[in-house]
Amino acid sequence: MTTKLWGGRFKKKIDAQFEDFSASFRWDVRLLPYDLSIDTAHTHSLRRCGVLNASEEKKLLSALARLKSEYEKGALRLDPGSEDVHTAVQTKLTQFAGSVAEKIHTGRSRNDLVAQSSRLYVKEHSKKLGLLIGRFQKAIVKKAKQTQKVFVPGMTHLQNAQVLSQAHVFLAYVEMLERSKRRLELVTELADVCVLGSGALAGTTFRLDQSRMAKELGLSRIVNNSYDVSGDRDFLLNLLSSLSFLGIHLSRIAEDLMIGQTKGVALMDIDETFCTGSSMMPQKKNADFLELVRGMAGVLAGNLTGFLMTLKGLPTSYNRDLQWDKKFLFDSVENVEISLEIFARLFSSLNISETRARELVEDETLYATDLADYLVGKGMVFKKAHEAVGSIISFAEENNVKLSKIGLDIVRRFAPQADGGYYDLFNAEHSVRQKAVQGSTHPDEVARQIKAWEKKG
Ligand code: ARG
Repeated sequence: MTTKLWGGRFKKKIDAQFEDFSASFRWDVRLLPYDLSIDTAHTHSLRRCGVLNASEEKKLLSALARLKSEYEKGALRLDPGSEDVHTAVQTKLTQFAGSVAEKIHTGRSRNDLVAQSSRLYVKEHSKKLGLLIGRFQKAIVKKAKQTQKVFVPGMTHLQNAQVLSQAHVFLAYVEMLERSKRRLELVTELADVCVLGSGALAGTTFRLDQSRMAKELGLSRIVNNSYDVSGDRDFLLNLLSSLSFLGIHLSRIAEDLMIGQTKGVALMDIDETFCTGSSMMPQKKNADFLELVRGMAGVLAGNLTGFLMTLKGLPTSYNRDLQWDKKFLFDSVENVEISLEIFARLFSSLNISETRARELVEDETLYATDLADYLVGKGMVFKKAHEAVGSIISFAEENNVKLSKIGLDIVRRFAPQADGGYYDLFNAEHSVRQKAVQGSTHPDEVARQIKAWEKKG
């Protein structure tokens, strides 16, 4: 049995199954490094306010240093039967430093401890996630640079719509990821607060030097209200919701690539190191990584929703319900971190078939909008031009003839303003070059976007 941090008033032994059910150690062991930094800052603080004398402080600090170094070497053995990581650390400290370790919990509660260590975790991991997104973006920009002259059918409603450069498509991914990155920056900023001294809910009678502790922990603000601290988990919701948004972005990118590698489209080849086979159909190469990422969007949204449901109806301040936060938090963070790393490698090894791209943009209906715009340029009202192009297309379909092979006399039956320029329209490069606005798929615009991303690093 583990030493409890709260045993005094209890006469009976805790129900064994309940004890196991209530333990959070299997999840919150991940908070260990943050607990150790907090314990170190708190020890300094206890010394300064006279709770510890110099030799007690020294003993505790050296026990904490030993714990840290064993943890970093992977040699630390914590009691897996501990109620939570905070209890496990207390037990180890007592082992290493003796009875002085029992003083460390002066002037604090697990409520402010868990609120602080989770904030440190969120601060560090939201930064790390931003970094991983940055690396993924870099891999995409690199691919975009290589595919500026590869023209493909862009889709709406999953139907071929207009021609885009493949680079333009890839840069759209970079944009959406950038929005996720900026959300995460806000998550980091909002978690960057020192809540130590809040105690269980009311603050503490000991004059803890909160500014010093904040400084030691690299935190830029001190919290305003201890009662708010013990139950506030907005900083976790911020991260979980950002990861849900990011999950949607990753899922979209994954889906696009899966469509690109279907036998029908056959534009992309996902490297087989990110695929698996079938136990029955020997020919199969399935892009399982992408499917898992697409499905993960549901897991991430579920974690956010799950935790929102946990919070719903709770009164202000700490309630044990809050412990479920860990289950949602670590699951989301760890899965996203891993998939961002893999996705960057998958992207770097992605193969785009230029031959297939050329075939795909031979579908001349992709140039219908260009044709309507061309007729407007010749003086037609857009609505009329739209109708005329519709008629030309149905003529082509009925007569089984390509748009570019219809004689000018027939074209003029529908659009009298047409001239020889009509025949230049059915060409991918010509099509993208006609685009004239910022953010379009015009090669100069795409090159400008690439340059800007490269400069951003
Ligand atoms: N394991 C708990 C959690 O993660 C720590 C806080 C427990 N506090 C309490 N008053 N029982 O929420």
